[in-house]
Amino acid sequence: ALSPQDRAKYLASRAALADVTDGMKLGLGTGSTAAWLVKLVAEKCRIHGISVTCVPTSEATGALAQSLGLPLATLEETGTLDLTIDGTDEFDPALNLIKGGGAAHLREKIVALSSRRMVVITDATKESPQLGSFPLPLEVLDFGMSATVGHIRRALASQGLGDAKIEQRMKNGAPVRTDEGNAVLDAHLGAIPDPAALASALDGVTGLVEHGLFIGIAGKICFADLEGNALTID
Ligand code: A5P
Repeated sequence: ALSPQDRAKYLASRAALADVTDGMKLGLGTGSTAAWLVKLVAEKCRIHGISVTCVPTSEATGALAQSLGLPLATLEETGTLDLTIDGTDEFDPALNLIKGGGAAHLREKIVALSSRRMVVITDATKESPQLGSFPLPLEVLDFGMSATVGHIRRALASQGLGDAKIEQRMKNGAPVRTDEGNAVLDAHLGAIPDPAALASALDGVTGLVEHGLFIGIAGKICFADLEGNALTID
């Protein structure tokens, strides 16, 4: 039996599946919710005899999609995608997101920005009136990391967030590496007064490859609560 949260992730993926149609060029997100979607897309293709060309946002998603027989392509091969469907770590009522809990936000943002439309699939526990409870993921180069952290601090200070704790993400005693081989920092912000202004400030930081704020990118959020009710914001 699925946990209530897993059922919510499944139901959200199920709802977004209706937007997947024959011949589409489709961006596939990363994470446990996106994994449901990948399985459902493969099943839909099999049962309905349709085909979609998929661009994965991570090595992990690419491997899963391939194992299920979905045809993969690169953005170079596809050009603009019709749709990207991806999970999130936090979302607000204005459809702004914090992503990167799985360290995939760089490729996820490249793929989402190469798509005509982004649909988010998630569960209600990720909903928040004001972004910032999930620590903001920051993919950074190893080279000059302490200088980069200084620049990040100044960008945060410009938004009244100068005293945030910033820590390097570790796993089993070693730095977490993205698919690009970079490091990840997590900035514990609590509440972000103006997510769009913070995103702009961070966009200008040299050495910061990409931050996890997705502002004005998502067009729809399909989510479900722990009682199993499916909901949509668009
Ligand atoms: C990956 O870096 C993230 O942006 C994921 O999309 C996010 O962590 C969602 O993961 P879950 O679906 O597992 O919550």
